[in-house]
Amino acid sequence: MNVNNDFRSARHWAHALIEETLEIGDIAVDATMGNGHDTEWLCRLVGETGRVYAFDIQPAAVAQTEARLQGAQLRNRAILHCAGHERMNELLPESANAIVFNLGWLPGAPHGVTTRVETTLQAANAALQCLKPRGILTICIYPGHEEGARERDALLHWGAHLRPEAFDVFVKQYLNQPHDPPLLLAVRKLMEKTSTGLP
Ligand SMILES: C[S@@+](CC[C@H](N)C(=O)[O-])C[C@H]1O[C@@H](n2cnc3c(N)ncnc32)[C@H](O)[C@@H]1O
Repeated sequence: MNVNNDFRSARHWAHALIEETLEIGDIAVDATMGNGHDTEWLCRLVGETGRVYAFDIQPAAVAQTEARLQGAQLRNRAILHCAGHERMNELLPESANAIVFNLGWLPGAPHGVTTRVETTLQAANAALQCLKPRGILTICIYPGHEEGARERDALLHWGAHLRPEAFDVFVKQYLNQPHDPPLLLAVRKLMEKTSTGLP
């Protein structure tokens, strides 16, 4: 079956939301560095005075991102951690205006090293704690593979139970396409001094 994707992709929707939010001098987090495309894009958005913290558990991803940033003369805007994103609240020295997750596996690498539902949920909770008020979290979810379907189910449940006084939670997805196309979950932190809003 042919599908047109006239409404563009989950990654495009995430980028549009982040670009509306981030300003020069802001703090951003790439929770899934991969080949570094998103880290580079975030470095450009936060400018010379901003900072990007990026995470991946694969040394190859960190090396690839490092080389990409060096080639683009953006290396000084990023702090790269070869560590799981579930450790974000321990490793971030400052809170963030935007946090980006692009779940799944490293393009071109074996599918064995994919994000996993347990650590993804831990990291999503950590991300809420790391966001500044009015900050935004975007998660691109790929339910077309088994672990991705588990992540979708768990994250939709998680998002639906965040307190509405503390967070706006938003989902964008195609409803009629075959093969479980990617979807976007986005969370905006609303208030400064309340309980965390964790379920
Ligand atoms: C779809 S790729 C990300 C693509 C990337 N955003 C880019 O622009 O190239 C997902 C990445 O998540 C990484 N990953 C898996 N588990 C992780 C974890 N617990 N913490 C951080 N990264 C993880 C994988 O190693 C993989 O590189």
